[in-house]
Amino acid sequence: MQATAIAHPNVALIKYWGKQDVAINLPAVGSLSLTLDGLTTRTSVFFDPEFARDEVIINGRLDEQAQPRVARCLDMLRAYVGVTDKARVTTENDFPTGAGLASSASGYAALVAAATDALGADVPADELDLIARIGSGSAPRSLHDGIVLLEKSAGPTGMHCYSVAAPGDWPLSVIVAVTTREQKSVSSTGGMEASRATSSCYQRWVETHPADLRAAIEHVEQRDFEALAELSERSCLKMHAVAMSSDPPLVYWSGATVDCMQRIRELHRSGTPVFFTIDAGPQLKAICLPEAADQVHAAMTEMPGVVEVLDCRLGYGARVEA
Ligand code: DP6
Repeated sequence: MQATAIAHPNVALIKYWGKQDVAINLPAVGSLSLTLDGLTTRTSVFFDPEFARDEVIINGRLDEQAQPRVARCLDMLRAYVGVTDKARVTTENDFPTGAGLASSASGYAALVAAATDALGADVPADELDLIARIGSGSAPRSLHDGIVLLEKSAGPTGMHCYSVAAPGDWPLSVIVAVTTREQKSVSSTGGMEASRATSSCYQRWVETHPADLRAAIEHVEQRDFEALAELSERSCLKMHAVAMSSDPPLVYWSGATVDCMQRIRELHRSGTPVFFTIDAGPQLKAICLPEAADQVHAAMTEMPGVVEVLDCRLGYGARVEA
């Protein structure tokens, strides 16, 4: 009744921001993401009938804040499989936790993969996506390889998540400029709910999103980096416009984030195949063709306020460790 799995964070090019149904964590919009390698979450799950409740240990510390969501996720899996044993979940990230680097996505993907294996259960992929989604809306994407589409669907789970390109199909590099290792002050869930309730841009965001997603899929199919670059930056800035126009306003950027954004635009103007994206935190993620990775890494390292630069490529979805 014990297993260990690893998973990687993912970064969305066409963003998820907003929930259609917060009770089942159903996103209001689809998304297109890159599963990374280079950053890893390793999670062990141990089920025992003697445990009174689920226990969550993140990076060596008991985490009571994460416990309810982890327990909800495990409850769904237990209900599906038909067991009642509680679990001890031990998880380690080799990158900053809760700082806008998608540690919740890799965390819930690794949790679901490890827990399913520990229970010896055979759970269909759509069901695993649904269970991971209860933990975090972006987590199903980290169950899949390379370039991943999460689309809304009329089916029972309300969505369908799958890989549209394997890591080797279109090698891309992702350079992460870390501007702080601090935890973010407003969670994605809180931010999304505030945006839905108060931003005058929210409705327009939801209405215009499907066309962005369709266009992005075409650009991926055609391996059209320039078109994908332009559209991804626009999706990112639209998402932040929704966040910033919420009440109270949500500004996830620091001065260093904006400086990095300008630097990436300069590089692009001078012919480097690179674009940026930013999630609910001040880190900037630069997506580039592999031949530009060293140049982009060096440019980000030189930026004042950047405390660390991480190099990633496209990676594989969550998997059980032997
Ligand atoms: C800005 O998946 O962290 O990174 O479902 O509330 O856990 P919850 O949100 P989460 O949101 C990710 C939002 C984002 C954009 C994206 O990754 O698509």
